[in-house]
Amino acid sequence: MRVLITAGPTYEPLDPVRFIGNHSTGKMGYALAETFAANGAEVTLISGPTALPDPGHAHIRTVRVQTADEMYQAAAAAAATADVWVFAAAVADYKPAHVAENKIKKAGDTLTLELVKNVDIAAELGKTKRPEQFSVGFALETENEQVHALDKLRRKNFDIVVLNSLRDAGAGFRHDTNKVTLLEADGRITTFDLKAKVEVARDIVHAVLARLPHPHA
Ligand code: CTP
Ligand code: CA
Repeated sequence: MRVLITAGPTYEPLDPVRFIGNHSTGKMGYALAETFAANGAEVTLISGPTALPDPGHAHIRTVRVQTADEMYQAAAAAAATADVWVFAAAVADYKPAHVAENKIKKAGDTLTLELVKNVDIAAELGKTKRPEQFSVGFALETENEQVHALDKLRRKNFDIVVLNSLRDAGAGFRHDTNKVTLLEADGRITTFDLKAKVEVARDIVHAVLARLPHPHA
């Protein structure tokens, strides 16, 4: 079984020394990579900039990228031969329209940046998904959580969307714990307790393995 995982944030450069990014640590994606590998999978982990070391597991190949465009290129290269795709990265939705060649100098009292939409990695690859391939996405919502998560499942052709609940203290970015609900294309909904991200990874991997069409690994 081959698994493709995106993880961490993306950094979108503004000039040679600055970028637009976010607080994603990559912990969830790295924990998923370790757990899939522990279950016998060959994992390609495409990671944005994180403070985490490359996983030491012999069956995890880590590809380091900076921007959403680079993450898309790397993911597209591995997608066709992967049985399972997991989109755990917190991809920047927008990038600067222009990257300044030199450091932007401080000038007026305000600065307006023009941003353009980034490629939606999950949605683009979702258009190429074959029936035997399985896609897992994440959604972090603050209102109408399940409605928005299911909308993402449909738009991005996911088989499972993992809804991250922010309502519970200790869940989400910058925490070692997560509280998730798995929503599936067939309407099934499974809610898990707040637990360590490594435990959440185990729940997600077990759900995926149980839903694959034939025995793997
Ligand atoms: N995703 C992606 N490429 C993007 C944006 C998102 O692959 N450019 C993936 C994420 O990795 C995640 C899923 O899509 O698995 C949902 O990400 P999210 O940011 O919640 O969705 P968006 O479509 O960007 O919607 P919004 O941020 O407006 O809620
Ligand atoms: Ca987004």
